[in-house]
Amino acid sequence: MALPAYGWAATQPVVATSDPQQVAQGVVLYKQRCGACHDTPSRSLDEAPQLAGPAFTKKWLTRPAALLRKIRYSMPQNNPGTLKDVEASALVAALASGQISGQAPVK
Ligand code: HEC
Repeated sequence: MALPAYGWAATQPVVATSDPQQVAQGVVLYKQRCGACHDTPSRSLDEAPQLAGPAFTKKWLTRPAALLRKIRYSMPQNNPGTLKDVEASALVAALASGQISGQAPVK
């Protein structure tokens, strides 16, 4: 996978593991830091999209390094850059695990 030569994620191994502890940490973090926006049904394109389902899988789970950077640097949108590296990794693991379905049923 080609990574741009900048930023934290380019120099760290991408951790999208199925380590149960990491997934569990990510699920808790999601509830605390993400669900308020991402579990609310989106009414417009400005609102938070569901972080599950086929579109999300295709756009992001095929590119875990990009997902990690997106989360690490631009989320939570009301306080970006405040997650620790390990927290961003745990969130990627949780999203990849399929345990976070968001507001709508996953098709
Ligand atoms: C204050 C509301 C808010 C919070 C809290 C928030 N987000 Fe978001 N998020 C958004 C909005 C709005 C977008 C769409 C605009 C964008 O991509 O920046 C978005 C987009 C995303 C995307 C890209 C989705 C796509 O389909 O392109 C990801 C991934 C994401 N957020 C992850 C997270 C994670 C993980 C957290 C928790 C750490 C989080 N967000 C917390 C509002 C929020």
